[in-house]
Amino acid sequence: MRTRPLKVALLGCGVVGTEVARIMTTHADDLAARIGAPLELAGIAVRRPGKVRDGIDPGLVTTDATALVKRGDIDVVIEVIGGIEPARTLITTAFEHGASVVSANKALLAEDGTTLYDAAGRGGRDLYFEAAVAGAIPLVRPLRESLAGDRVDRVLGIVNGTTNFILDRMDTAGSGYSEALDEATALGYAEADPTADVEGFDAAAKAAILAGIAFHTRVRLDDVHREGITEVTSADLASAKRMGCTVKLLAICERAADGRSVTARVHPAMIPLSHPLASVREAYNAVFVEAEAAGQLMFYGPGAGGAPTASAVLGDLVAVCRNRLAGATGPGESAYTRLPVSPMGDVVTRYHISLDVADKPGVLAQVATVFAEHGVSIDTVRQKGKDGEASLVVVTHRAHDAALSGTVEALRGLDTVRGVASIMRVEGE
Ligand code: HSE
Repeated sequence: MRTRPLKVALLGCGVVGTEVARIMTTHADDLAARIGAPLELAGIAVRRPGKVRDGIDPGLVTTDATALVKRGDIDVVIEVIGGIEPARTLITTAFEHGASVVSANKALLAEDGTTLYDAAGRGGRDLYFEAAVAGAIPLVRPLRESLAGDRVDRVLGIVNGTTNFILDRMDTAGSGYSEALDEATALGYAEADPTADVEGFDAAAKAAILAGIAFHTRVRLDDVHREGITEVTSADLASAKRMGCTVKLLAICERAADGRSVTARVHPAMIPLSHPLASVREAYNAVFVEAEAAGQLMFYGPGAGGAPTASAVLGDLVAVCRNRLAGATGPGESAYTRLPVSPMGDVVTRYHISLDVADKPGVLAQVATVFAEHGVSIDTVRQKGKDGEASLVVVTHRAHDAALSGTVEALRGLDTVRGVASIMRVEGE
């Protein structure tokens, strides 16, 4: 074993950073044995130096992150600050000064991963980011490395624990959305401002990263169709139950049937209770990967939290350190397919549409005509009438999302349709 340590700089010392530093200390001997050299935590950049951090040596703490990454003797920079800036500049500066980088920054990777990959390539260094998607669950490296010899066609999963917790509570406890969100906040799953989670931004960033590495092309956050869970109601959950389904916020990345484009989307969807994703409870994550030769693979586990995320960071740290000692680098950006990302309208899926209509002769025929005019085939119709009004639930066969949206628009324009109570895609069948 080499006795000269590999020097590590930690940018950020919040929940994840603290766990990373703690495990680096408590498991120092094991990590050294696995890497082939000891690790030395050389500095920790924080915004608030006065804050008491259990187990953190105050002598290592600095507010000057730029000076830390510019030192020139740092082997690996771990970035757990999050956000676009200053993280992007710090990471590119770290590469310019010879360090490899381990990052958990999904927002930055989804927004501008190319800048990071390019900087890593110029410096001949590694950029690893297992912790950016689904916390502790090994998913990024399986896609970048283990499945590098296969052709991935689809990635379908629950990649946001907060929203899964909320939908799970709505399903199992019959809570309304606000009540379930309050519970998620009280338990520390949802942040004070839950926008990133409940509006689907967090899941969309993860979908962009997964689609890019699964299909070897560039997919950015803006390419991902995004709908959050704020409009999901108890009635949607009840409708789902009647169909033998539940509602999940899904991230779905697909290669088109002709193989010439890809799509990436995040939205709530009904999935059958028989689908393994339906039994993913509370704040857990799970991701299905469908590959040509491998078939269906499922990855399941804790997708957030200090220790689980630190586990992914440390796994990357070990891999990157091994590469450095071997004078090698791991995989860089793989975007050679240059497959374009198609808009949501090109996605082929099924819809569950719940309408409030007038209960009189010809209404069902009128509604059915609108579906037919848009080329959308109806699978099932269920109607329940009361006092001249009726609720009509239509489930379609698979059709282009654009045709389904056009159908809904036209239905809204019918005098006999009093309102569209809910529209939800049906997936996982
Ligand atoms: N807020 C995320 C979640 C974890 O609820 O899954 C970090 O990506």
